[in-house]
Amino acid sequence: MRLDKLLAHAGYGSRKDVKALIKKGRVSLNGELAKNPEVHVNPDTDIVLADGEKAEYVKYVYLLMNKPAGGISATTDPHGQDKTVSDLAFELTGVWGLFPVGRLDKDATGLLILTNDGILGHRATSPKKNADKVYAVEVSGELTERDILAFKERIKLDDGYLCREAFLEIMSSGLVSRALVTLTEGKFHQVKRMFQALGKSVISLKRVSFCGIELPEDLPEGECRPLTEVELGKIAHLLAEE
Ligand code: URA
Repeated sequence: MRLDKLLAHAGYGSRKDVKALIKKGRVSLNGELAKNPEVHVNPDTDIVLADGEKAEYVKYVYLLMNKPAGGISATTDPHGQDKTVSDLAFELTGVWGLFPVGRLDKDATGLLILTNDGILGHRATSPKKNADKVYAVEVSGELTERDILAFKERIKLDDGYLCREAFLEIMSSGLVSRALVTLTEGKFHQVKRMFQALGKSVISLKRVSFCGIELPEDLPEGECRPLTEVELGKIAHLLAEE
């Protein structure tokens, strides 16, 4: 593989970042100063050092993104017009082929995991896995105890689907209300359709937690970072056999 790919997979940033690193003379290949980002290297036998530290190629990359509004939760946009979260992840990290685990609507923001580990993608979205998701929403109109009860007693969507028990925590109620919604499933536009069933509309929606992993407060929209070991531990059961 190319040297810039190895460095990107080792967590040294986008292709632009790693090219700059090489240009600044901070990378060596088998003891010699590396000059060409495109040179082919063997991750098993060649020794690549960045700032004196061994750059280890990792096959599977797991990222936590704060999805920006307008980003499409897909690897490619069928209409070829909008930027996808995979395009954004590539720009930010230089790693190709990362796909989102689950999806968020185009106008939604917040926590999205991206990976090139197909098993995780497949298992995390399996309804059997019950991955908890928490959404912070702004809703038009007042929210009351009656809405909390409706979420608990299972809401029927427009197509007749009966949602699982869900939890509504009202943060403020008024002309525009704020709340946290916890679901263990992920049907298309589910949160919006649940409120619609109660005669309300969602103004904004942000995923703040997935499987116990919280959206970091200091991660701006449109940015991402690798999952930490602790966070990986929280989704380890999703990687295990059913
Ligand atoms: N529910 C929605 O309505 N939209 C999302 O993006 C996620 C959950």
